[in-house]
Amino acid sequence: MIYLDNSATTFPKPQSVQKAVCEGIVKFGANPGRSGHSFSLKTAMKVFEVREKLANFVGAESAENVVFTGGCTEALNLAILGSIKKGGHVICSVNDHNSVLRPLHYLAEEKIIELSIAEPKGARLRLDDIKPLVRPNTYMVCANHVSNVDGMEANLSEIGKFCFENCLLFLVDSAQSAGHKKINMLKQHIDMLAVAGHKGLMGIMGVGALVVSSKAKLIPLKFGGTGTDSANLSQPLHFPEGFESGTLPVPAIIGLGAGIDFTKENFSETERKIDDLSTYLNYELRQIKGVKVYTHPDNANGVLAFNIGKTPSSEVAEILDKKFGILVRSGLHCAPLKHKALGTLEQGAIRVSLGAFTKFSDVEKLLKAVRRIRN
Ligand code: ALA
Repeated sequence: MIYLDNSATTFPKPQSVQKAVCEGIVKFGANPGRSGHSFSLKTAMKVFEVREKLANFVGAESAENVVFTGGCTEALNLAILGSIKKGGHVICSVNDHNSVLRPLHYLAEEKIIELSIAEPKGARLRLDDIKPLVRPNTYMVCANHVSNVDGMEANLSEIGKFCFENCLLFLVDSAQSAGHKKINMLKQHIDMLAVAGHKGLMGIMGVGALVVSSKAKLIPLKFGGTGTDSANLSQPLHFPEGFESGTLPVPAIIGLGAGIDFTKENFSETERKIDDLSTYLNYELRQIKGVKVYTHPDNANGVLAFNIGKTPSSEVAEILDKKFGILVRSGLHCAPLKHKALGTLEQGAIRVSLGAFTKFSDVEKLLKAVRRIRN
């Protein structure tokens, strides 16, 4: 099997992650932050260690600014629904995933907010695409760091600086970038960073995080037990516990800690490999007659979209799977406005996504298979 669907979830997971997840069940099996016994405290300390690791990894202010969620979708929902300013205006872009578009669309339909959707004019999402849309009531800009359809990157530093200077909240969806691209919340003026635990950070499914700056004032999505101030019927609004009601997925969090360690150790190598393989794959696919590559060569981010002639993308993906043992994603990738911009709403797109374990030979086999299908 050749796994080229790392944007959906990275596979395989490092052995250290597999071991850590098991330890999360066996050695850290108590409920952290609830009971005061030593087993619970030991687990809570282990969970705190992972908060620290993630905060350091993304350049956040402190470990307390890391709110664990069930995944990146929940993190984005918390950021968007938790920061609503009634009558305010939000800017996102066609690169966004439905986990950003749908909550924003809902708020706009209900006339709670106004929404503008930026359309990148060049190879990347830039400040120039966002700036003309700003209104006096704009309170937030959302940027998708790396598109899950075609890998288009957003220039976070310039957008973040503008948001900082204009007192706008800056929300970044790092589902496809965390672990593969450098992120520094302080330097890039990111106020809310939504993170997937099971993609570039190599953890398992079931955990993500919203990492916030002190500028982000949120109301929780979930109300319930926090293990603190229990006599009070009002939800405590302290970070992080006020936003993490319910029992945390401890084995997934501990696995994420090991995933971050792995990612840090291998960061330069993975970054270079993804860049090289993406560039090579993009170039070679473009040489095959009848293949249309949607990914701009400037976005060598491990996510590549293409089609073969007018053949439905799902048919090609099925042949790649059944005949060649190559696993990719096809159809629409939960990002309808991106497909509209690329002109692939009907056909969908074949998406190849690379990861830390992708080999040059995997890419070569994919190219060989595409050439065979084409003939
Ligand atoms: N959002 C994930 C993807 O792009 C699941 O495949």
